[in-house]
Amino acid sequence: MEEFHKVRRLPPYVFEQVNRLKASARASGADIIDLGMGNPDLPTPQSIVDKLCEVVRDPRTHRYSSSRGIPGLRRAQASYYARRFGVKLDPDTQVIATLGSKEGFANMAQAITAPGDVVLCPNPTYPIHAFGFIMSGGVIRSLQAEPDDRFIPALERGMRHSIPKPLALILNYPSNPTALVASLDFYKDVVAFARKHEIIILSDLAYAEIYFDGPPPPSVLEVPGAMDVTVEFTSMSKTFSMPGWRMGFAVGNERLIAALTRVKSYLDYGAFTPIQVAATAALNGDGSDIAEVREIYHKRRDVMVETFGRAGWNIPAPAATMFAWAPIPEPYRHLGSLEFSKLLIEKADVAVAPGIGFGEYGDDHVRIALVENEHRIRQAARNIKRFLGSDGDKAGNVVPLTARR
Ligand SMILES: Cc1ncc(COP(=O)(O)O)c(C=O)c1O
Repeated sequence: MEEFHKVRRLPPYVFEQVNRLKASARASGADIIDLGMGNPDLPTPQSIVDKLCEVVRDPRTHRYSSSRGIPGLRRAQASYYARRFGVKLDPDTQVIATLGSKEGFANMAQAITAPGDVVLCPNPTYPIHAFGFIMSGGVIRSLQAEPDDRFIPALERGMRHSIPKPLALILNYPSNPTALVASLDFYKDVVAFARKHEIIILSDLAYAEIYFDGPPPPSVLEVPGAMDVTVEFTSMSKTFSMPGWRMGFAVGNERLIAALTRVKSYLDYGAFTPIQVAATAALNGDGSDIAEVREIYHKRRDVMVETFGRAGWNIPAPAATMFAWAPIPEPYRHLGSLEFSKLLIEKADVAVAPGIGFGEYGDDHVRIALVENEHRIRQAARNIKRFLGSDGDKAGNVVPLTARR
């Protein structure tokens, strides 16, 4: 029997292969240090958990909730944007709560895409940016991930050579997986381009609060006129260590928010009310929880860059996000990112995410997530030092695992 139309468009998740190897190594007793998946290990702050527990006792909160988010939650998100970015939002028409930013992004793609619509998408990037549109019948044209002076010319080429004219452009800064950060000047140029060519900007700002060097990352909505063409997604997952709670937001252009609201009104009843109330309390907090999370990732970043560097693997320090985008050490580059990642599990007991999982232009890199504590990161560096030292000189002879048997 032929595979279903949609399923055929979704290649098996690359990360699954690494996960399987990780699981079998663990099953045979290996202590794998897991820097693979971007799954925060930090507990949600106690005050947010307490708020959830308090609210869940009220049986009125056990009913279906509000699909677009309870009014207090949408107001709290609008206040956050005003405080943090100086962006004024109408909580009734320009804000919607989502079941994590991934769900919001995928359903926005579903809401706005007609079959064959072209979308300009960075490569490498977080998979839902491309696959949200592919699942919705869209077509992807890849763009460079770097927000530098080649970006607008690349957009211009994309515009000139795409038929039909592109529907939308995806931005994701600070970026997963590259950790690149964009400036407000960059956003000004992109907004001017999008307005001129009437294309939609979808900005994923999931790492708005995880930054270490330089000024806090801006929102594209800070650019005057951006609201005419832009929706931006944020997430509670990393900012408040709430990944399992599934809470995020889309904000911006009213027409786009209305389209997402319509689709979601058919699909879900919103997050569980106690989660929405606890998220409201988190957003209305004094920011100390966010600062603490940021500080922990900052320290882990410094330890990782220093200890991996001493182990012989020089990794550029990420200015933001909870990831390092690490070039594969030269002697192993010919293996590609998937085989190198498998080798790290086998020989160093360290799991990372292969860059190819984020797009074809990611294959020279692996992504290292700062989701184990400093002690474990140091241990990972010691393992890697041993691996590079023992194997480095014969790396040219390494046979990819897939070729063995
Ligand atoms: C860039 C980016 N966007 C969105 C998400 C999904 O976050 P959420 O938990 O809000 O769905 C992630 C998660 O890793 C991410 O890295």
